Amino acid sequence: MTKPEGVPYLDLSREFNSLKDEWFAMISESGARGSWILGPNVHAFEKEAADFVGTRHAIGVANGTDALYLSLRALRIGPGDEVITTPYTFFSTSEVIDMVGATPVFVDIEANSFNINPALIERAVSEKTRAIIPVHLFGNPADMTAIRTIADKHNLAVIEDAAQAFGAQHDRQRVGSMGITGCFSFYPTKVLGCYGDGGLVTTNSDEIAEAVRKLRNHGAAASFQHDEIGMNSRLDEVQAALLRIKLKTLDKNIAARQRVASQYDERLGNMGITCPTRPQQGSHAFNLYTIRSTKRDAIREALMANAIGNSTCYPEPLALQKVYERLAYTAADFPVSVSLGDEVISLPVYPDMSGQQVERVCQVIEQAIS
Ligand SMILES: Cc1ncc(COP(=O)(O)O)c(C=O)c1O
Repeated sequence: MTKPEGVPYLDLSREFNSLKDEWFAMISESGARGSWILGPNVHAFEKEAADFVGTRHAIGVANGTDALYLSLRALRIGPGDEVITTPYTFFSTSEVIDMVGATPVFVDIEANSFNINPALIERAVSEKTRAIIPVHLFGNPADMTAIRTIADKHNLAVIEDAAQAFGAQHDRQRVGSMGITGCFSFYPTKVLGCYGDGGLVTTNSDEIAEAVRKLRNHGAAASFQHDEIGMNSRLDEVQAALLRIKLKTLDKNIAARQRVASQYDERLGNMGITCPTRPQQGSHAFNLYTIRSTKRDAIREALMANAIGNSTCYPEPLALQKVYERLAYTAADFPVSVSLGDEVISLPVYPDMSGQQVERVCQVIEQAIS
């Protein structure tokens, strides 16, 4: 008997084939115009993305890390300031805090949503706190109502790290529209991904938008007129053209991801596996489908043996890693994040995934834990 086919962790090939003609035609137009940086596609994408997210402004930048960094710079957060965030995320979220000279303050997450626990934020607020960076992890919106209540009470800025969650909603509002800024990554694996690097800052503040626009382009208010130290963090025409095409079908693609997730929920929920929770009021964009099981290692081994892609997001809370030794946190500070390290595993999820592929992943898991 031939062995069933494996399932890749992510397969973008069908998507690429379906949109390449339209994309290549747009690139040809850019070539004919000779405009490659901050040209008409970037401007049009910024307008379309702002309309989609529901903000007054959207500013294209080079990647999601820069979107976070430039938000902190635009808010004039720096040395002597503290920023509260989650230890259970990709490193960029906290890395940017040190990049502006401020200090990260980590608080643990909720076991069910994997997002920052609002009940723990208030205790971490000090006289130095300037901002909170919640992450809409794996595409699941953080509890922005609770977070904003605490932020308003203490006069703190909220920077949404929406890198993994373009299109997700909390209480009928898109992520990226509820904080002072929303920060997105268009890394190819993201819900809205380009074929290279890209990022976006969304905001309703005219002042912050102007500051980010300037900072992304060497602090220049006009050509060769530099008001402050900035950087080169611009979105290019090639990626912006692709993002314009992909934005048109984003909601359809999120619905397809949700269908994959529902099929997993149905099969895996019956096996004693903890499936991702969905927001009570809102929608999960399912950038990742991450399960919890005490038999995680057996599941991972079986998936590997059957050529099924998977990933461990995330094995160790950031606050306990070498880079933050100076902050002297211990495992007891993050019981939930620490416990997840041995139990989580992310499974393949993408809009073009077939029902048979999902079923194949479930069968392999079923055999592994039975
Ligand atoms: C939660 C989170 N924040 C920020 C980033 C940074 O985005 P980029 O890789 O585009 O710099 C990522 C990317 O993986 C992410 O997952």
